[in-house]
Amino acid sequence: MSDMPHPTPPQVPLVTEAWGVLRSLAAARRNILELIPEIALRQPIVSGKMGRPWHMVMDPAALRRILLEEVENYPKSDVTKNILRPAIGESLFVAEGAHWRWQRRAAAPVFTHRNIANLAPIMSAATDRSCARIKAQLGRGADLYQEMMTAAFEVISDVTFSGDEQFDRAAVHRAVDGYIDQSAKVSLFDLFALPGWIPRPSRMLSSGAMKQMKQMSDSVIDARRDKGPGDIPDLLDLLLAGEDPKTKRAMNTAELRDNLLTFIVAGHETTALTLSWALYLCAFDQGVQDKLRMEAQGVLQGRAAGADDIPDLPYTRAVIDETLRLYPPAAFLSRTAQKPDTLCERQIRKGDTVTLPIYALHRSHLLWEEPHRFNPDRFLGEAPVDRYAYLPFGDGPRICIGASFAIQEAVIMLATILSRFRFTRVAGKDPKPVLILTLRPEGGVWLNVEEA
Ligand code: HEM
Repeated sequence: MSDMPHPTPPQVPLVTEAWGVLRSLAAARRNILELIPEIALRQPIVSGKMGRPWHMVMDPAALRRILLEEVENYPKSDVTKNILRPAIGESLFVAEGAHWRWQRRAAAPVFTHRNIANLAPIMSAATDRSCARIKAQLGRGADLYQEMMTAAFEVISDVTFSGDEQFDRAAVHRAVDGYIDQSAKVSLFDLFALPGWIPRPSRMLSSGAMKQMKQMSDSVIDARRDKGPGDIPDLLDLLLAGEDPKTKRAMNTAELRDNLLTFIVAGHETTALTLSWALYLCAFDQGVQDKLRMEAQGVLQGRAAGADDIPDLPYTRAVIDETLRLYPPAAFLSRTAQKPDTLCERQIRKGDTVTLPIYALHRSHLLWEEPHRFNPDRFLGEAPVDRYAYLPFGDGPRICIGASFAIQEAVIMLATILSRFRFTRVAGKDPKPVLILTLRPEGGVWLNVEEA
């Protein structure tokens, strides 16, 4: 039986024929990933035209050029920025040039290994609360996607505005999720820089909730500035203490708020998605689940994982890495070329849209063996592929500033949860990967919960 193909977890049906604009638009409305042609899994670059010329790049050397060597020539496309700006201003995620550089330098110390390790007890405590909620679902099917969204939001709000009574966690969660949902729908049409005359859904941005959230954050920040840092500095304390070592510039209240809200927006859903897909994949492959549980139970002996346990949980880490390969939360990045260039021997003109379909890169037959198969072992030991063949956090100067934070949180939660519970799939409820700003499991991640 050993030469039987391995079953593979759900994937996106990619386009195998030339599509007309209208059909492509209909697909984009449903799921951006369905715009990726199947040949993107077998070629280094695919180009086309929809309004403007676009190029999808899946070649490691060309990706290195876009993200590192020629990064100034490939700023983030306006699309991403236009979606996010109303929520998070000219913050780290959105800014370019000098305004980005000083903020990145001021924020870098916030995410040192030591500062992140200090925040681990907050992650462990949130995990214990999550386990208590999961326990209440024993013996039935539960939507672990909803649960992971709740847990990850608790972590990010506790490490940004810890212990601030004026901070209304539920209100912020509602405002952020509502905003992301609405703007994601609008944004689909902009991803390929479609001409303005194509009708778009109305821009019903919930500015009321957004305004309220900003005001609340500002008063929390001002109060904290007067009070001084707590015993364990949280992200707000660290950011308040930060300044750009070159220009000595520190952030004012509005800049602090925009960056903290950026951490919340960029950090909670992405991490929750990683955990949801990881739990699904463990239910999909019981062998992997058993192996992970053995590792976690051996190390943890019933307690929740902390920062010191992470080096002892290499298999859990490999499951997270493999999850981020198959279901990268940021599955599609987009840039606009500022001057002519050549990528994979193809001419790129000024103004062309250059997309980085991370989902297709991670499943390329040119780069990965059995790319659709869930196999965490490929991440044990040495790096399996070229660094630029695996980009869940991007790379170069704009690489995700929260990557180690996210990995630490994901390993702590996954090891602890699987040391306590066993999950199996609910028949007929497998999630479908859909890209709406991030790569989400449509229909949720429904799993049966039993005690481990
Ligand atoms: C698994 C979880 C996460 C994933 C997959 C992820 C992915 C990414 C990616 C791909 C980028 C680069 C985007 C681009 O180049 O166009 C990015 C940037 C960023 N991420 Fe994350 N992220 C995660 C978690 C977090 C967390 C937890 C935080 C903060 C606490 C965070 C904060 C940011 C910020 C501020 C940027 C912009 C950095 C800059 O441009 O200088 N992310 N993230």
